[in-house]
Amino acid sequence: METIKIAMTKGRLAKYSIELLEEIGIDCKELKEDSRKLVFFLPQHNIEVILLKGMDVPTYVEHGVVDMGIVGKDVLMEQEWQLYEVVDLKFGRCKFSVAGKPVIGNGKKHLRVATKYPNVTRKHFAQKGQSVEIIRQEGSVELAPLMGLSDIIVDIVETGKTLKENGLVVLEDIADISARLILNKVSYKTKKKEITTIIDLIEKKVN
Ligand code: PRP
Repeated sequence: METIKIAMTKGRLAKYSIELLEEIGIDCKELKEDSRKLVFFLPQHNIEVILLKGMDVPTYVEHGVVDMGIVGKDVLMEQEWQLYEVVDLKFGRCKFSVAGKPVIGNGKKHLRVATKYPNVTRKHFAQKGQSVEIIRQEGSVELAPLMGLSDIIVDIVETGKTLKENGLVVLEDIADISARLILNKVSYKTKKKEITTIIDLIEKKVN
């Protein structure tokens, strides 16, 4: 049997991804240990799991370094990827939203928008015919309007706690987000049997 390599997103999706693998009968004990390890071989299942930052998961899948991955739809929306998006895993639910101070200076023609998602942001405001300057951030995006770096932000909102604690509000929702199972296009052909078995088990669990 061929080894199946799976890339998982570190952070808030990891816990749910591990739970899902356990629910389909894959023992992930080693993955739940508190360590800095990034690669885990699960010999009894012939599965290798690697842990990556969200934006790097589709890169590994696209290049065929791993066969499949679990990643947020936000990452898939930000860039065109050459891969198959096969299952909505229905966890990691959140929204892409525009947020800012409750009053942002009405009628401002040119808005400065801070975001980790420049492409999603550009597309959203282009559709509305609104002219914006995009200020790319790597994290803590909520700081930008507080410090005067931007007028508004585009970011993912899960519980809304980060916005609330920083005096910001949702001004507009852009899209619903959840975790997705993605596949390398070649692996789907060359390891079809193993991959189809995993997809079928996952689909039964999430649907
Ligand atoms: C994400 C997002 C928000 C926050 C939203 O950041 O960018 O800041 O989570 O979650 P909430 O609505 O439940 O408060 P993340 O924690 O991934 O860290 P980052 O700011 O370093 O990107």
